[in-house]
Amino acid sequence: MATWSAPGKVFLFGEHAVVFGKPGIAMAVKPRVYVTVRKGRHPPRVKSPYIEGCFSEMDVKGSVYVHSQLPSSSGLGSSAAVTVATLSAINDEFDLGRTRADIADMAFAIEKKVQKGRASPTDTYVSSHGGIVLIKEGTKRRLPPQSFNIVIGNTLVSHSTSRMVEMVGSFKQQEPDIVDPILDSIDAVCMTAIHHLSDPKILGRYMDINHALLEALGVSHPTLTRLVMAARAAGAYGAKLTGAGGGGCMIALCPKRSKTRVAGAIEGCDAKAIITTIDTDGARKEHEGKIARKTGR
Ligand code: MEV
Repeated sequence: MATWSAPGKVFLFGEHAVVFGKPGIAMAVKPRVYVTVRKGRHPPRVKSPYIEGCFSEMDVKGSVYVHSQLPSSSGLGSSAAVTVATLSAINDEFDLGRTRADIADMAFAIEKKVQKGRASPTDTYVSSHGGIVLIKEGTKRRLPPQSFNIVIGNTLVSHSTSRMVEMVGSFKQQEPDIVDPILDSIDAVCMTAIHHLSDPKILGRYMDINHALLEALGVSHPTLTRLVMAARAAGAYGAKLTGAGGGGCMIALCPKRSKTRVAGAIEGCDAKAIITTIDTDGARKEHEGKIARKTGR
């Protein structure tokens, strides 16, 4: 029996612009998905096409147990985390010798198949490797880790990433003179922010600018705007939507002393707050005792 876990992700900068080849900065965050795999003679009895995809890709049979701390369909990369943790647990249980990079690539291929062509290579890479990652011109590079105090605000408004990506695509096609400069500005914000990763005050200002540019692209939502405003008013250095928008989540970068106040302000808007920070581990083997305690088995 093997138990592995994998973290979720947030975009600090550059979502949507990365789809058009611009840079983005994403970070693995603490809520994790835990997956236990045990060798068996039968295929796993699960309804998840991601987990089925993992077993058929690895060409093995067995049972699977999933415990997720990550809300699904909220833009925090939960399907990528499930896929990465399942592949890692299968790899360990069946001693298949796949590397972390192999797991990231396979997880992306499975997500792409399940999501009928559209998937984020960022989600699967960040979940398997952890830390802060710069995505630029198709390559991914880990940046020095920072101990940010982050509060995630989940609007609980469901959204569709592919619909939001399509929407920006058609806006760009119809109004290239307007949309291209917005994407160029997101690029500039992201590349400037890289030089200030250790200064959360300055970084917060760039997050505010990035949010305004995403609003201009039309991917925000009234609840996201409300949470962003509430977080700033409660003392965050900066706040922005994260991921595809149209619902889903926002993030606030906070001074340590105000994270509880920021979380309270978010909950006061009928949203769900998660106080978190960077996860530098990526996919990680868990001890059975730990997962049993976490899941109350
Ligand atoms: C979704 O989390 C982020 C987008 O940029 C899509 C992607 O990067 O694949 C909207």
